Amino acid sequence: MSHHKLEIRDLHFSYPDGHKAVDGISISVGHGESVGIIGANGAGKSTLLMLLMGIIFPDKGEIIVGDVPVNKKTLPFIRQRVGMVFQDPEDQLFMPTVYDDVAFGPRNYKLDEKDVEKRVLYALDLVGITHLKDRAPFKLSGGEKRAAAIATVLSMTPDILVMDEPTSALDHRSRKKIMGILKGFEHTKIITSHDLDMLMDICKRIVIIKDGKVLADGLAVDILTDSRLLDSCGLEVPLSLQNCPKCGMAKNSEK
Ligand SMILES: Nc1ncnc2c1ncn2[C@@H]1O[C@H](COP(=O)(O)OP(=O)(O)OP(=O)(O)O)[C@@H](O)[C@H]1O
Ligand SMILES: [Mg+2]
Repeated sequence: MSHHKLEIRDLHFSYPDGHKAVDGISISVGHGESVGIIGANGAGKSTLLMLLMGIIFPDKGEIIVGDVPVNKKTLPFIRQRVGMVFQDPEDQLFMPTVYDDVAFGPRNYKLDEKDVEKRVLYALDLVGITHLKDRAPFKLSGGEKRAAAIATVLSMTPDILVMDEPTSALDHRSRKKIMGILKGFEHTKIITSHDLDMLMDICKRIVIIKDGKVLADGLAVDILTDSRLLDSCGLEVPLSLQNCPKCGMAKNSEK
């Protein structure tokens, strides 16, 4: 299962205006790990994910998926193995129907229409939106669009799922639903988010990015309870772990 492994080695990237967004990041992610990437606004999280997907390319350093380095030549393979759900689902949905959007990837890989249909129905079922298959994506609610965007990636049966802020702007029910989908994905997951409660629930490991560098990398239970560390990069302990605002009682002593 080496193709589920991801190796990021001494990655550097500056935008064309000279702004250095990624400044020497190294992270190694093993098969089946779920890793949350956190950091203040502008820390470099989305830039890192775009480098992972080969949407942009590093100035220095390398990314290796399984045994394959990410570069222009290997992109078709990388895009098949690594699926990214963008922060804004509208960046991912552009066909007349949800079905066509979810079929887009498999059709692009020239699968025959029977296999395409199997993949589409499998992905729609996984995210629980089979009933929306003939609807126009732009007419869906925010949560439905997010689920459809995830289905467009799952129809490619990726080994590694990369998600940028999967629960942002979702109501409680949609957020829980998306969390259920993420938990159900058993392969490698890399998720950036400001929703630390969600990450606490889904990711065993957390990496903190600050000013384009890795500030901490360790177990979620250690990092997400370290208020001093989180505070130093503009974050706070997940609400579910904070003391009661009324009586100050610690959450874990409530029972
Ligand atoms: N196209 C661009 N040109 C120049 N600088 C950019 C560009 N896109 C992003 N940046 C800068 O790169 C840095 C990292 O941005 P990035 O979007 O990766 O941060 P982020 O950690 O994802 O933040 P957020 O939590 O707000 O999503 C920021 O300082 C940002 O201003
Ligand atoms: Mg971002």
